[in-house]
Amino acid sequence: MKPSKQAAKIGATVTSADNMPEIREGQTVALLQELHILTRDGKMNQDSRRKLKQVYHLYQFIEPLLKEVLASKESVTLVDHGAGKSYLGFIIYDLFFKALQDSHIYGIETREELVARSQELAQKFNFPGMSFLPLSVAESTESKLLPEQIDVVTALHACNTATDDAIQFALKKKAKHIVLVPCCQAEVASVLKKNKGQSLGKSALTEIWRHPIHTREFGSQITNVLRCLQLEAHGYNVTVTELVGWEHSMKNELIIATYKNLPRKRPAERLKEVLETVGLQEMNTRFFAEEEVA
Ligand SMILES: C[S@@+](CC[C@H](N)C(=O)[O-])C[C@H]1O[C@@H](n2cnc3c(N)ncnc32)[C@H](O)[C@@H]1O
Repeated sequence: MKPSKQAAKIGATVTSADNMPEIREGQTVALLQELHILTRDGKMNQDSRRKLKQVYHLYQFIEPLLKEVLASKESVTLVDHGAGKSYLGFIIYDLFFKALQDSHIYGIETREELVARSQELAQKFNFPGMSFLPLSVAESTESKLLPEQIDVVTALHACNTATDDAIQFALKKKAKHIVLVPCCQAEVASVLKKNKGQSLGKSALTEIWRHPIHTREFGSQITNVLRCLQLEAHGYNVTVTELVGWEHSMKNELIIATYKNLPRKRPAERLKEVLETVGLQEMNTRFFAEEEVA
């Protein structure tokens, strides 16, 4: 696959004439080169092919959410937590935000060198509606550099409890849509492990997490179950699917939550009940707001 001379110029985008079937039309070739998805001569290796496939797959879910926001207002804001090299943010901006006025993508990332590189790229490609902040997800929730309200919140493989912080961020910012692909989370498994002595024997179901490998796997699964109930307990409609294209990764669960002001009582009760049943009461403050715990 080779980009045409036209597409090889900075700012030039892929068209149907370019014979680049793996790249979406409208995508800036030089941007993909800077992101090391395409080589200088327009080739793609196995790793970058997989990365692009993953991001495009996720984009298919995000694009209709952005359109839904724009059906009711003139601009849209998106925050990407644990942005890393910001593949997701840049590809969404290039395909969707570039054509909009007053819309903005914020990338939140603790590693300053990645933030600096993303800022440099946004400047190079003249993407004024992109900002990158060297903050943790938790810090960004309090930061004055971000607006009070955010429309769409994403967190793609944000490490460990960063996904939980992204949920707190989204709830505080009254996000309309939340798109999460959680990474492994060790916190719940460690509490299950700590309380194993007390829980074992209470019910035959505690066998589910008796062996250490099961403690880890069950810990990971129950974490996402609790996250879904937490979102439902805040009025969101939640769907959970497999993120295909992620077949080489164990971390392929996609959680999409859309605010619908749904009844909160039942999911809140279920959340409390699940925490008690599996001996995780001490984690109430992770999944309930302070006033809800009191
Ligand atoms: C596995 S990478 C994923 C990067 C990117 N989202 C992707 O999928 O290509 C996780 C990123 O989250 C960042 N990170 C981890 N914990 C964070 C936190 N609490 N706040 C902000 N960034 C965090 C890491 O520095 C890392 O760049």
